[in-house]
Amino acid sequence: MKTTVSVIKADVGGWPGHATVHPELMRTAEENLKKAVAAGVIKDFHVSHVGDDLELIMTHTKGEDSTEVHKLAWETFQKAADKAKELKLYGAGQDLLADAFSGNVKGLGPGSAEMAFTERKSDPVVVFMMDKTEPGAFNLPIFRIFADPFNTAGLVIDPSAHQGFVFEIWDIMEDKKVFLSAPEEMYDILALIGAKERYVIKRVYPKEGGPLPADEPVAVISTDKLYHVAGKYVGKDDPVAVVRAQSGLPALGEVLEPFAFPHLVSGWMRGSHNGPIMPVSVKDARCTRFDGPPRVAALGFQVANATLGMPVDLFDDPAFDRTRQQAEEIADYMRRHGPFEPHRLPMADMEYTTLPGVLERLKDRFEKV
Ligand code: F6R
Ligand code: MG
Ligand code: MG
Repeated sequence: MKTTVSVIKADVGGWPGHATVHPELMRTAEENLKKAVAAGVIKDFHVSHVGDDLELIMTHTKGEDSTEVHKLAWETFQKAADKAKELKLYGAGQDLLADAFSGNVKGLGPGSAEMAFTERKSDPVVVFMMDKTEPGAFNLPIFRIFADPFNTAGLVIDPSAHQGFVFEIWDIMEDKKVFLSAPEEMYDILALIGAKERYVIKRVYPKEGGPLPADEPVAVISTDKLYHVAGKYVGKDDPVAVVRAQSGLPALGEVLEPFAFPHLVSGWMRGSHNGPIMPVSVKDARCTRFDGPPRVAALGFQVANATLGMPVDLFDDPAFDRTRQQAEEIADYMRRHGPFEPHRLPMADMEYTTLPGVLERLKDRFEKV
């Protein structure tokens, strides 16, 4: 029987503003998931947060898109949102866009990344959680993990990783997908995923003939676009990813290595700015300066018999101090541009924010030149 890792997240209220998640919300979620373990809905869970996003990390054997598991997540978020309303937390219930649950959280506001796989003798799994950015923020690190030999030594020197990986890339504007193979089609992959606001890596698969089944993903990224759901800007769709490691896959250290570079992502203040992504421990995953800078946390698990066990907070490590320092320097540099591009996002990306309201107000004052 396959093991499923389901990471489902939502912003159901910030403390204060959009900074972080109140411990009472975490407790509410934990209590509800504990009951679900006792009732046999899931096997194990870990509740976490990054910035204002409440993250439910769950394991079970019910496969992806299980109505039972999605319903559990939805109800857990609702309970946490009720608590948030009681405490008058900021934006209580923000991401719960539907009035009622309808079989799957997709399209209802929460984001999800799920992966069903046959457990190996030992299965290291990393859950990445980002706040104040969008799914395309994972394009660069996921590409580097599974296709860049300067990042992942195993692509060159491990015979079982040498043949490369297949990337499932989604066009999130037109709801289309394409499978491209690395290294053969590496330049095509890059041609797409460099446009990270449109083309996002959804999954990565091993190739036929390798040590892992070619139909079971080894990485999955949430690609939920809140504004497609809500029709207007209701907060960035802060993404999560699940990545498996070792034994024919990139090693744990190769999975973490791309995050030593604080690459520019879009999001940050009002979802409208480019800024560096800063790898942090969960305890430092509070978005403060200019509502950021965008953060990423990483929890490592040794999945065993569909249970998670204890997490290791992987960026809680001095090895990432220099990256954080560099991210702060880049934040200073970017901030000095104020409302100017490329700190502020280009017009096309601002269409989904509150800017059109400003332009609407000015439209009658424009004269012909
Ligand atoms: C970005 C984010 C925040 C808010 C900002 C304004 O994803 O959540 O930067 O956009 O704090 O929030 P409101 O409009 O709620 O006052
Ligand atoms: Mg928020
Ligand atoms: Mg958020």
